Amino acid sequence: QESNKGKEIWLSEQEVKLRSTLVDINGVPFPSEMINGWGAIRNFRARPDDLLICTYPKAGTTWIQEIVDMVLHGEDLQKCARAPIHERMPFIEMVLPKLNISGRRRVVQKISSLEIIYVARNAKDNVVSYFHFHRMNKTMPEPGTWEEFLEIFIAGKVSYGSWFDHVRGWWEAKDRHPILYLFYEDMKENPSQEIQKVAEFLDLQLPESVLNQIVQHTKFEHMKANPMTNYTTMPSSLLDHSISPFMRKGETKG
Ligand SMILES: *[C@@H]1O[C@H](CO)[C@@H](O)[C@H](O)[C@H]1NC(C)=O
Ligand SMILES: *[C@@H]1O[C@H](CO)[C@@H](O)[C@H](O)[C@H]1NC(C)=O
Ligand SMILES: *[C@@H]1O[C@H](CO)[C@@H](O)[C@H](O)[C@H]1NC(C)=O
Repeated sequence: QESNKGKEIWLSEQEVKLRSTLVDINGVPFPSEMINGWGAIRNFRARPDDLLICTYPKAGTTWIQEIVDMVLHGEDLQKCARAPIHERMPFIEMVLPKLNISGRRRVVQKISSLEIIYVARNAKDNVVSYFHFHRMNKTMPEPGTWEEFLEIFIAGKVSYGSWFDHVRGWWEAKDRHPILYLFYEDMKENPSQEIQKVAEFLDLQLPESVLNQIVQHTKFEHMKANPMTNYTTMPSSLLDHSISPFMRKGETKG
């Protein structure tokens, strides 16, 4: 509670309650709510047909999620409008603690059988996006000024930890696990080539016409206007798009 003192100056009382503090879990700072559910995450065992999408926050998570969902559904693009993206592809750290997996534990498989798609985005664009995301996502810790935020970002003292450790850790892990390691900048520059990589990784054939449809549908402007991907289905008390839209610019400046 002590750490919330004084925040009232620029935050409403309700916001002070929403904004989380960070706790250290295995050396990585996470929102404090997550500590209760950590056992469920640690005990998770993947099935061979599970696919894990992994990114540092604001590195193209929603983008790759939508691409994968479209690749999996081939020609049936309507299927991608069945629910908001966070319901179609739930965040493991939020969903697992809510399920009682001790009661219905899956067959234990080695983690190495899990397929993983990773997206990395350059640090400069990533930190700018993460700053604005802290402002609009009312459950993130208060970011402070841009200068203050940049400092804690570089020090790795932000939610989900150090960008540097994240991108490097997964880069090194790809030599030991089946990981498709993609770059946001490549996806921007040559979307059809990168979408093709996703399809090949998932052992799927994409007819030219479907590939083109996916390229169109997952363009930034299209996703920003799509209620199933732009996060406007969530209450504005949690995500305040008037402060900064969830999909802001989607640019690569590097
Ligand atoms: C989880 O499931 C187990 C086994 O079915 C049960 O004993 C336990 O009470 C459940 N825990 C919660 C929090 O529901
Ligand atoms: C908002 O922030 C919380 C952390 O406080 C995070 O778990 C959640 O994923 C964020 N919301 C979205 C839509 O990413
Ligand atoms: C999200 O999508 C809805 C529906 O298309 C649209 O009205 C709204 O302006 C979009 N939100 C943003 C922040 O772009």
